Amino acid sequence: MHRAERRWLQAGIATLIAFLALIGVAALHDDIVPPSHVETIDPTRVAETPPFDKPGLRQTGPHSYEAYIVAHIFSFDPAHLTVPAGARVTFYATSPDVVHGFFIPGTAVNMMVVPGWVSSATHTFRRAGTYLMLCNEYCGAGHHFMYGAIDVR
Ligand code: CUA
Repeated sequence: MHRAERRWLQAGIATLIAFLALIGVAALHDDIVPPSHVETIDPTRVAETPPFDKPGLRQTGPHSYEAYIVAHIFSFDPAHLTVPAGARVTFYATSPDVVHGFFIPGTAVNMMVVPGWVSSATHTFRRAGTYLMLCNEYCGAGHHFMYGAIDVR
């Protein structure tokens, strides 16, 4: 084998190992995972389907919460949540109309909200402050009005 060929092969293998290591770090250290929930919902009946008939926050343990969010044109329901610092919140979101996004800047929570599906992501809010909830999928004329906030106290 030509020396240049061997070098090229070594560089390729090193790149492969580096990217696999990055996936490992992102998954285990940064808690970034591919969407694993394949829960479905009838998008025409979101308003009547529990728990999305009563969207909002539910406490499930001393520091754990579930937040059921309906993303519709052009707002989140509810648009405002308050949790104590240290709360581990699992967000469940669905849409009765078009594709929306659900993104909390500064966290790994960034999901597409697709009609017919329930998206979910979990984040532990260690630091107090106000976190934005943004729609980051263009969903129509009011897309830029589609935001909410989470107060962590
Ligand atoms: Cu909803 Cu953009």
